[in-house]
Amino acid sequence: MASRGFFVVFEGGDGVGKTTQIERLAELLRSEAGGSHDVVTTREPGGTDLGRELRQVIMHGGHVAPRAEALLYAADRAHHVESLVRPALEAGSVVVQDRYFDSSIVYQGGARGLGDEVERISLWATEGLLPDLTVVLDMEPASGRLERELDRVERETSVHASQMRQGFLKLAARAPGRYVVINAAHSIDEVFADVAAAVTDAMSRAGEGGAP
Ligand code: TYD
Repeated sequence: MASRGFFVVFEGGDGVGKTTQIERLAELLRSEAGGSHDVVTTREPGGTDLGRELRQVIMHGGHVAPRAEALLYAADRAHHVESLVRPALEAGSVVVQDRYFDSSIVYQGGARGLGDEVERISLWATEGLLPDLTVVLDMEPASGRLERELDRVERETSVHASQMRQGFLKLAARAPGRYVVINAAHSIDEVFADVAAAVTDAMSRAGEGGAP
């Protein structure tokens, strides 16, 4: 199970700006100043060919039974970890990922009311692969709304946005050494300064020689 790379996951509610921060972080880590790392950016759901098909099924269909939804996310995750994330980590890459199983714990376990079993399903699906660092981008739900059309899951879970925010904060509090919570209500540059500091610090503590 040992891996040589570094696994960073971004979590948070819908519209908190994960995509922008992930792009900027990848750019930094690839640069000479950031350590010239080999960086793989990816996402769940939809980080693989199979995952993109599962994403279509999950997001754009009609009603999906909550347990089926949880298993579809877990299927996407199992395939993604086995075919992309774990090989990249074993090759020494930094994997920067948009959402992982905390999203299932918070959306399916919390908002859909499926409870703790969701976490066990994800741990089984991933053979226990935990991120080295999870960055929770935290923001008041109302200020995080996007101007794009919401997908099915976002529409159906948005009434639980405050509960989901608390869910991410609770997961972070449970394992503070593996999480950082960043106030995402600031400007993109300010948020990125915090993200860059937290990730490079965690990487150097893990012996990956992050940016100075
Ligand atoms: P996405 O378009 O990636 O949203 P965002 O840009 O906000 O990350 O859609 C992912 C949606 O799927 C989002 O509403 C969260 C939800 N989701 C779950 O419900 N469970 C999960 O395990 C994952 C990974 C995502």
